[in-house]
Amino acid sequence: MARFYQTTPIYYVNDVPHIGHAYTTVVADAMCRFHRQAGDEVFFLTGTDEHGLKVAQSAEAHGMAPAEWAAANAERFKEAWKLLDVAYDDFIRTTEPRHHLAVQAFLSRIRDNGWIEPGTYEGLYCISCEAYYTEDELVDGRCPVHDRPVVTMKEENYFFKLSAFESRLIEWYESNPEAVQPATKRNEALGFIRSGLQDISITRTSLRWGVPVPWDADHVFYVWYDALINYLTGIGYGDDEERFSAWWPASHHLIGKDIIRFHCVWWPAMCMAAGIDPPSQVFVHGYLLVSGRKMSKTGGLTQIAPRDLVEDFGVDAVRYHLLRDVSLGSDGEFSHEGMVARYNSDLANNLGNLLARVATVVASRCGGLGPAPQPAGSARLADVAASVVRDWEAGWRRYAPHEALEAAWRLIRETNAELEAKEPWKAPPGPGVEAVLGDALEALRIVAVLAAPAMPRTSGEVWRRLGLSGSPVDARLPEAVVWGGYPGGLAVERGPALFPRRRD
Ligand code: MSP
Repeated sequence: MARFYQTTPIYYVNDVPHIGHAYTTVVADAMCRFHRQAGDEVFFLTGTDEHGLKVAQSAEAHGMAPAEWAAANAERFKEAWKLLDVAYDDFIRTTEPRHHLAVQAFLSRIRDNGWIEPGTYEGLYCISCEAYYTEDELVDGRCPVHDRPVVTMKEENYFFKLSAFESRLIEWYESNPEAVQPATKRNEALGFIRSGLQDISITRTSLRWGVPVPWDADHVFYVWYDALINYLTGIGYGDDEERFSAWWPASHHLIGKDIIRFHCVWWPAMCMAAGIDPPSQVFVHGYLLVSGRKMSKTGGLTQIAPRDLVEDFGVDAVRYHLLRDVSLGSDGEFSHEGMVARYNSDLANNLGNLLARVATVVASRCGGLGPAPQPAGSARLADVAASVVRDWEAGWRRYAPHEALEAAWRLIRETNAELEAKEPWKAPPGPGVEAVLGDALEALRIVAVLAAPAMPRTSGEVWRRLGLSGSPVDARLPEAVVWGGYPGGLAVERGPALFPRRRD
């Protein structure tokens, strides 16, 4: 059995969850749901990044102690993920004792290996990024990410000898071409490395809100150096070696393109320095844009709370939109109009309509009992389903949820087309009608399995209305998608519209 370890970035608790965070987290959740269906052993970790200057300052601005502020906001992330049906296995908070222990163990190992040394650092620092920049990386003297002024910082602290890892990193990327996806982002990471790496200051004396450096009580670790290690804490680093070696490096880090340098340059070098393998894959996605701009608090842009969208559209429609409308490696536009259009076309008109039609004709022509499908050899839809399943699986496996869902919806469209061609609602009851409806029911059963990673609730409801027991969420590949699984003779329910058409 393969192991699949999925992570999201851990989110800063100076911000409340918005649809940009939801995007990464829902994609990660859907990936895990697919891998569970595929029979893999899955571990899904998300959480919150709670240390550092930015969080300390935002706590102060709200008149709260950092610990209190962090706890309140971590709760908000948990609530958002609950609302979005995100089924993580563990939620890590970097202020937890288990994380402090892992950070201290990992960084002490790097120091013992000779890669951490004291020194003096002076540089230009962006507080929003929590990172230093060189003069030529700035745009008009301002942070290239946040378009904000930078400050000069000078510190006596400890340095990680990143410069010593230049050629090892290049070799690693050359021998592991899949390590960063898509390829354009891998090239970006290689570009950073080839342009020359400088040692990084990894501790701070200017603030107390961090993980204490075990060998020097005046220092805490710099927030990024603590944050990245969450990926190890979550699987027992320094605490449960057996568990850790079972899961590492089967890791798939899903990140936004804003944090490539940390994940694709610093992090693999840190792993090398500590004597463990770098993560097996980092998948970099683009930004979700609102009116062409990245949504974030520091950018002062419109905030869209997951709660508002879920109340308006329902959780599955939100999940579907996030997964279906953006090609994962590229930027995607988020708009109310786009969401309504996708909802009406794919959910109301295609999926919802198919289920309603089939249930209505089963009631009027088959006494409410769903007939069995034709054998694979005689059903045209069986061939469609087989090719759809192949494309669907390939889509998930290459981190392309939009392709996986596009494939699943092909089966819905073809089934609707089959019904329109055969018009069973006009034919008298009998074997002809039963053959058409049996095939449509079987196609719907397969659709429920294929839609489950994206829309677990809707899939469960389709399943239930078809009269099936159990849940498509627990369905296992490949048996669950082999043509012929619908047994026939089950009571099919005509419920209310799954996705009532919207007029806004
Ligand atoms: N705390 C760091 C990550 C540490 S990981 C070891 C951080 N946090 S963050 O709260 O700023 O979240 C960054 C992540 O949120 C991005 O990498 C991305 O996954 C997601 N997104 C935030 N805004 C987004 C968009 N507008 N669009 C897409 N993803 C967005 O950086």
